[in-house]
Amino acid sequence: MDDIVSAAGSPHPPKRFLLCSPDNFDVTFEINPWMTTERRPDREKSWREWNGLVAELRAAGAAVHHFPSLPGLSDMVFPTDVGVVDGNRFVRGRFRHPERRDEAAHGATWLLEHGFTEIPWPDDPNMYLEGGDAVRFGDVLLCGNGPRTSPAAAAHLSRVLDIPVVTVPIVDPRFYHLDMSFCPLDDRRAIYAPDVWDVEGQRVVEKLVPEPLIISIDEALTFSANSVVIGRTVVMPACPPRIRSALEDWGFTVRVSPVDEFLKAGGGIRCMALDLDLLGRSGHLSPL
Ligand code: ARG
Repeated sequence: MDDIVSAAGSPHPPKRFLLCSPDNFDVTFEINPWMTTERRPDREKSWREWNGLVAELRAAGAAVHHFPSLPGLSDMVFPTDVGVVDGNRFVRGRFRHPERRDEAAHGATWLLEHGFTEIPWPDDPNMYLEGGDAVRFGDVLLCGNGPRTSPAAAAHLSRVLDIPVVTVPIVDPRFYHLDMSFCPLDDRRAIYAPDVWDVEGQRVVEKLVPEPLIISIDEALTFSANSVVIGRTVVMPACPPRIRSALEDWGFTVRVSPVDEFLKAGGGIRCMALDLDLLGRSGHLSPL
């Protein structure tokens, strides 16, 4: 069912991602401002872009695992939202919108079948968590909240994962997950769009990131912050020239892998690639 695409011969264990292929990708409902059922993704182009992304991640040295998307779950191609992985354990996503809720069980099944153990949720119906809101920066987990994730869920993550969590309230609904406005580059640097957050969120992030690459709303609207970083390579859906030259000045290599069909559903590269090493891999039991 799943398959390891590649782990390029690097001396370090490769960074691992879980992707979901676009077998059943579509825009059949509208749960964010990008989605309209009037503008459906093209099937062949989606496959081309998805295969292109797998190839780019692989070329950057990552190991890519994948599983198929299922009929009726047209957003399943965004597996980042199904959970938060910490070493050999994970917390399952609790989706805000009913349209996506069944995805959590499928993502959890894949993780359980591959040696991860699940940390249960307390019996509280008011907790929502989507993995796109959980972004690690150094020793801290940043957690977007508002559109999709609730503050109580962020507090739960902090407790069960024993990690400091900083919540960042999102006020611009176009950037409904934190991974659309914040992209960590390494322990000191991050790309971010502060105008997406409330003043308190801006203040907290400003104190946390010693070397920021601050981007405008227009730059963020290209999905440039919805990128993944593998060592010194940043794999991006788009990269405005100013951002590219700032990244290159810092010694990063930019690889643009267009995923325009997926942007129609409001998701880019970070949404499409669940980070299996988000919070470290020590003590991992799985044969991955
Ligand atoms: N259509 C999906 C949704 O609205 C897109 C998910 C994007 N995921 C992300 N991690 N930003 O939920």
